[in-house]
Amino acid sequence: MSKKIIIAIDGFSSCGKSTIAKDLARKIGYRYVDTGAMYRAVTLFFLHNQIDFHHLDLVSDSLKDITINFRIDEASQSQITMMNGEDVEDVIRVNPRVASAVSDVSSISEVRRFLVKQQQAMGIEKGIVMDGRDIGTVVFPEAELKLFITAEPNIRAQRRLNELKDKGQNTTFEEVLANLTKRDYIDSNREDSPLRKADDAIEIDNSFIDKEEQLNLIIRLLNEKMGTAV
Ligand code: DC
Repeated sequence: MSKKIIIAIDGFSSCGKSTIAKDLARKIGYRYVDTGAMYRAVTLFFLHNQIDFHHLDLVSDSLKDITINFRIDEASQSQITMMNGEDVEDVIRVNPRVASAVSDVSSISEVRRFLVKQQQAMGIEKGIVMDGRDIGTVVFPEAELKLFITAEPNIRAQRRLNELKDKGQNTTFEEVLANLTKRDYIDSNREDSPLRKADDAIEIDNSFIDKEEQLNLIIRLLNEKMGTAV
């Protein structure tokens, strides 16, 4: 595939966006960026530094002290989120305080502006698959291919529970479902850049299709878009 494009993937929490975005990027040789990890890293910074993020002056003041980037782990070829030089990949995913505060932190316009600017810079050369909540609507409204991924809440909660258990976390289906439902609500109802399907995004419900079927479907959509074989 010669011409490089931007692929925007949005959708609700725990519907497998990151997995599919990562697999797709690997298959077509694109860079993958998980923007949720960036919101989680900012949340972790506020929690670690005991910054009361309800105070906007404290938030604005501290954003300049946060540097987020991604490093590729050579062995697993997976992406590691780094915050101020520290590997925070695992803690941002398993720390329950991050999970419960991240939607509030990502509702703060200052935080969004700070991260959106960095995300747009990452896409300047195209050849990128980026996943999040506002990629097709705000970060790259001109993205050539936009996907909106959904799945039934119970199925998403079960998938997330399995993931957390694999990482050694002791939690219940009910707790996971409650956190997910709350995050969906906040993400979809916040004032700044609420989660919504872009008008030109293609919706994929992956409740009853497996990863491989989904990847094949997306590759087909990509081929149609590019008018070529990948
Ligand atoms: O994709 P995730 O679950 O890791 O995202 C964590 C939180 O970050 C989620 O509750 C919503 C927020 N988020 C956002 O507001 N905008 C994005 N582009 C990505 C994530």
